[in-house]
Amino acid sequence: MKAHGRESTTHPDSMANAPRPDGPIPDLEAHEKNPALELILAHRSVRAYRDQPLPERALDLILAAAQRAPTSSNLQSYSIVVVDDCTLLKAICRLCGTQSFVSECSVLLVFCSDISRHVHVCEQRGYVYRGDQVNTLLVAHGDANLACQNASLAAQSMGLGTCMLGNVRNDPQGVSELLGLPRYVYASVGLTIGYPAGDFSVKPRLPRRLIVSRNRYEDDHRDADIAAYDAELRRTGIYDGRREPLNDVAPGTPDLVVDEAYSWSEHCARRLGGESEIRRRDLGQFLDSKGFSRR
Ligand SMILES: Cc1cc2nc3c(=O)[nH]c(=O)nc-3n(C[C@H](O)[C@H](O)[C@H](O)COP(=O)(O)O)c2cc1C
Repeated sequence: MKAHGRESTTHPDSMANAPRPDGPIPDLEAHEKNPALELILAHRSVRAYRDQPLPERALDLILAAAQRAPTSSNLQSYSIVVVDDCTLLKAICRLCGTQSFVSECSVLLVFCSDISRHVHVCEQRGYVYRGDQVNTLLVAHGDANLACQNASLAAQSMGLGTCMLGNVRNDPQGVSELLGLPRYVYASVGLTIGYPAGDFSVKPRLPRRLIVSRNRYEDDHRDADIAAYDAELRRTGIYDGRREPLNDVAPGTPDLVVDEAYSWSEHCARRLGGESEIRRRDLGQFLDSKGFSRR
């Protein structure tokens, strides 16, 4: 497999003083190499799986790794639902925008924000639960995502492929019903796990200086850095056949953006101005109904 980030960065679009757009993937010196760093730097999402079950022992180790993740105040405000039932996988797949890999994976882990245990111990001990505030939502969602990342790395360390799945929040009520999630629990993020069918490239990241500042936030070179990244991603062909349709930002307008000009910034703008974003506007009400206050 080839890491795009290691390819030559000279190209016709290059600008004076443009940063190398391959920031996050340094070439490791021999003495810097270690399995953990190499695994992290080789990360790529995998969206096609062979039809092969996951050994129970592998699942056991992945779940152990998930639970070793740091967790805010040791509250452990998450639960994991392991989905390996084919019918259920297909049903969840349908609710997640029909990304076929969801029904093809060996196992889907659904990481749920879960404050039900905390509400329970407060009630049991006669304390008024005062966690009904937006911070609890952030804490639980963060915990769930940290556990998910740990599980993902553990799975990748065994040669498995993974893909996180925020699309479990496309139809949060539907997913909640399918998994029997009670009050104070909602699906934050999924993780598909399976044996990769094919090779998957490492996706370049935004230039380091756009993401990282020292001591004080900086984005002085934002437009140049985004332009450099657009050029870099365009060359990978990642958006070939994967353009977001024009949406309500400009209804009825002909799509004049040629393929050569379509890249990360156009894709993001169309996504964030698109239908899927509108659909998720209801998420706040759903979270209220689940007992996750936004106060
Ligand atoms: C919280 C989160 C949710 C995601 N949800 C989805 C998803 O619903 N569907 C999908 O195909 N990929 C999803 N991804 C994967 C991202 O698209 C992917 O990480 C990103 O494009 C970078 O590619 P890479 O992981 O191959 O480096 C998600 C990633 C994260 C971190």
